[in-house]
Amino acid sequence: MAVILDQNIAGEQCAIGAYKQLMDVTKDKDMVTYNLALTILEQEVEHEEDLQNLKEDLDLMVARGSK
Ligand SMILES: [Fe+2]
Repeated sequence: MAVILDQNIAGEQCAIGAYKQLMDVTKDKDMVTYNLALTILEQEVEHEEDLQNLKEDLDLMVARGSK
């Protein structure tokens, strides 16, 4: 389970990087695409945070279960 979470976290981080790049490329050139990329970036950051929180909870549960 933790491995799957790590893979999904890495996927979200990859998406965050891609949307940041898109924002860099479109800054001051294409405001519509820039704003779209910003909106999606915010969602991807939320996804990553959710998965990190889930992983923390899972790690705590595993730690408690092993005592
Ligand atoms: Fe995502």
